[in-house]
Amino acid sequence: MDSLDPQGPAAEAIADLWWLMFVLGTAVFVLFLGLLIRGLTRRAPEPSEGEPRRQHLVGRWIGVGGVALPTVVIVVVFAATLVALRELPRDAPDGALEIEVVGHQFWYEIRYPESGLVTANELHLPTGRPIALELRSRDVIHSFWVPALGGKMDMLPERINTLVLEADQPGEHWSRCAEFCGLQHANMQLLVVVESPSEFEDWMSRQQAIAEPQGDLALQGRELFVSADCVACHALRGQGAAGTDGPDLTTLPQRRTLGAMSMENTPENLISWITDPDSVKPGVDMPATALSQDELDALLAYLGVER
Ligand code: CUA
Repeated sequence: MDSLDPQGPAAEAIADLWWLMFVLGTAVFVLFLGLLIRGLTRRAPEPSEGEPRRQHLVGRWIGVGGVALPTVVIVVVFAATLVALRELPRDAPDGALEIEVVGHQFWYEIRYPESGLVTANELHLPTGRPIALELRSRDVIHSFWVPALGGKMDMLPERINTLVLEADQPGEHWSRCAEFCGLQHANMQLLVVVESPSEFEDWMSRQQAIAEPQGDLALQGRELFVSADCVACHALRGQGAAGTDGPDLTTLPQRRTLGAMSMENTPENLISWITDPDSVKPGVDMPATALSQDELDALLAYLGVER
């Protein structure tokens, strides 16, 4: 996560402002450090010598160093902030791709209203198109932040905040929740994958073409999905499962990580996540589910996990 390596116009405006403040702050710091060292090392004049001149000098130091210089610095930084703010669009521009991002303790629900796709913890974006992220929360206040692409914005339970971003080039960026939201705040992470428009379309169609579960094992898994109560919190497209408390699992096998980037998405990790999520992410809402190895095999087959 590096906000000084901007990959889009919004992040660039913020990074430029940061550098300006850094340069000004450093210059003022060095200047005053120099004066401090000079004051400490030089010999004090005799008190009776040139008293009026000294008074005059003290007044000038206060005027220049204490009033004029801070005023100039503050005015310059304020003006630069206004310029940077103008570069950050507040409303979705025409042709923007709208994506809803909903914060949960402690993961991200991602909805693409144009295509109806719902996924979690992995945000795919095309390059060269403005993105309007409609941010909200299902529980407490979270804060959305992809430093490489733009500034932070709160995800609130009772209103929608719009964050407009654009990505210049393909790449992968990390994002972390930036508002303390509970025990696993530090592990509320999001993988942001920026792709060329054609790669993005390919990804979208892969996400939408989900095969029906086939075979006895998968059908057995379907029964477990209902009887073990997975269905109460998780959705599976086309399977009549529409829980919304936990991530939509339709495209789970295609995701790179589990538990909002807590670990790599492998069958072994998925099994340890299902049987004891608390050992991976203490304080997570998902309860542990005691299943035998055969039952886990069936459940994974139903979820489309290849082994
Ligand atoms: Cu969500 Cu911190």
